[in-house]
Amino acid sequence: MSDPTTQASAAHRTALDRPQPVTIEVDGQRVCAYPGESLATALLAAGRRAVRTTASGARRAPYCNMGVCFECVVTVDDVPYQRSCLVRVRAGMRVRTGVAR
Ligand code: FES
Repeated sequence: MSDPTTQASAAHRTALDRPQPVTIEVDGQRVCAYPGESLATALLAAGRRAVRTTASGARRAPYCNMGVCFECVVTVDDVPYQRSCLVRVRAGMRVRTGVAR
């Protein structure tokens, strides 16, 4: 019989394994990201603190990270109003920030 503590540790290590990074395009710049992570995470990790602006010009950033607030909307592959916290990174995706809503 195996030790449940050892099994939990092995499962935890596996959960932290990351795939090889890929390149995505954000506002015309190449950004390194990990496939499967949320686009909001990739944008924040790349130093993009604000991803859209309001109609009055206020800068907004991901807030809830679970698809509720819509503060993280961006354009992905020419499809507007995508919630970046719900979109998974995939190689070659083209992202445009600064969407007014
Ligand atoms: S951060 Fe709230 S919907 Fe994406």
